[in-house]
Amino acid sequence: MRVVTIVILLCFCKAAELRKGSPGSVRSRTNHGRAGGSRRSSNPIKRYAPDLPCDVYTYLHEKYLDCQERKLVYVLPTWPQDLLHMLLARNKIRILKNRMFSKFKNLKSLDLQQNEISKIESEAFFGLNKLTTLLLQHNKIKVLKEEVFIYMPLLSYLRLYGNPWHCTCELETLISMLQIPKNRNLGNYAKCASPYELKNKKLLQLKSEQLCNEEEKEQLDPKPQVSGRPPIIRPEADSTLCNNYVFPIQTLDCKRKELKKIPTNIPPDIVKLDLSYNKINQLRPKEFEDVHELKKLNLSSNTIEFIDPAAFLGLTHLEELDLTNNRLQNFDYGVLEDLYFLKLLWLRDNPWRCDYNIHYLYYWLIHHYNVYYNGLECKTPEEYKGWSVGKYVQSYYEECPKDKLPAYPETFDQDTEDDEREKIHKNHTTKKQGVRITIVG
Ligand SMILES: *[C@@H]1O[C@H](CO)[C@@H](O)[C@H](O)[C@H]1NC(C)=O
Ligand SMILES: *[C@@H]1O[C@H](CO)[C@@H](O)[C@H](O)[C@H]1NC(C)=O
Repeated sequence: MRVVTIVILLCFCKAAELRKGSPGSVRSRTNHGRAGGSRRSSNPIKRYAPDLPCDVYTYLHEKYLDCQERKLVYVLPTWPQDLLHMLLARNKIRILKNRMFSKFKNLKSLDLQQNEISKIESEAFFGLNKLTTLLLQHNKIKVLKEEVFIYMPLLSYLRLYGNPWHCTCELETLISMLQIPKNRNLGNYAKCASPYELKNKKLLQLKSEQLCNEEEKEQLDPKPQVSGRPPIIRPEADSTLCNNYVFPIQTLDCKRKELKKIPTNIPPDIVKLDLSYNKINQLRPKEFEDVHELKKLNLSSNTIEFIDPAAFLGLTHLEELDLTNNRLQNFDYGVLEDLYFLKLLWLRDNPWRCDYNIHYLYYWLIHHYNVYYNGLECKTPEEYKGWSVGKYVQSYYEECPKDKLPAYPETFDQDTEDDEREKIHKNHTTKKQGVRITIVG
């Protein structure tokens, strides 16, 4: 239903955009929705031009420019001025020059993460009166003054982590700004890289006495802004390898990052987490405990063989879980118990083994009939190959009901543990309907 609404909205936006034809950026029909400089080979802007043209699109009435991973070193004069969101992650920008974004007066979000920025001039953000979100994580910034932020009065979301902050007196104004209580989404997780005594201390927790003492000033590197530090070596499961989007929803995209484990430092406000096409082979207890807001989790195309019963602890709001194309044979008892709001569960392309151990998964799904799922088909043993798991479970009881029924009474008893869950899962106004498990025979 929601998908349909979004599709309709998108069509509507596209149509509106076509009819209007944006005045600032005349583009030919075939070039529609694209902006870039690469075609104008004789133009002096060419030296800034990215390899591929950038995408311009409208989503829910807001105009986006997606120019990520284009080896860009500067903004291009051809970009439309009425952009609301500018995605420039993973480029080669080194310096933010004075008034560099001043044309883009409507900008609400600016994503500059994973560039090579080491210097931000004091008027770099001039004119960004409407900017609320600025992403600067994973650059090479060591020092920054509070004054660069004065042009962005509405800034409420700022990412600074993954920069080699040099925590001395020079950083004091910035740090006191970040520490103002109302700025609770500014600069979280950023840590000092130097000096040695403050290494790994969080900017938000530093006191000004720690920054400004006389001895330290003497030891100060004369040119702290010129970075000569070797690149930080990242552990094998670090979420900083991933791309973090704020609009339209908080997303962490860790697709195809060769991850062997769930990253440890996932920002806690992530709503959508894509871990598809990695090398994760098991889910350990409490992997997602701190990501309370998560609604959509994509673990497809990994090599997951085992999920700990406490792996999904804390994912109370999860609505969609994609486990397509893994190596799962069954679920241990309890794996799904924390997922009160699950709506969609994708299970295709797993080697489901139709024996007694698959009963938990099957009965959980029967019991939570409002959860839509697919792909539950026996792959082994040979005799059940190609059967749906439901058919297998029925045949299990048909074959030998008297011996086997008492061995698994709780799955048939509607008024046990699961019933308690059901009460939390739904709300009190919704009357629980009896689940009928029909066993032919
Ligand atoms: C999960 O990721 C895969 C591959 O990246 C994608 O094809 C699939 O649609 C995603 N699943 C969901 C539920 O979005
Ligand atoms: C509770 O159920 C009622 C009726 O089905 C529904 O209108 C309401 O939104 C539900 N509330 C929550 C919190 O799920």
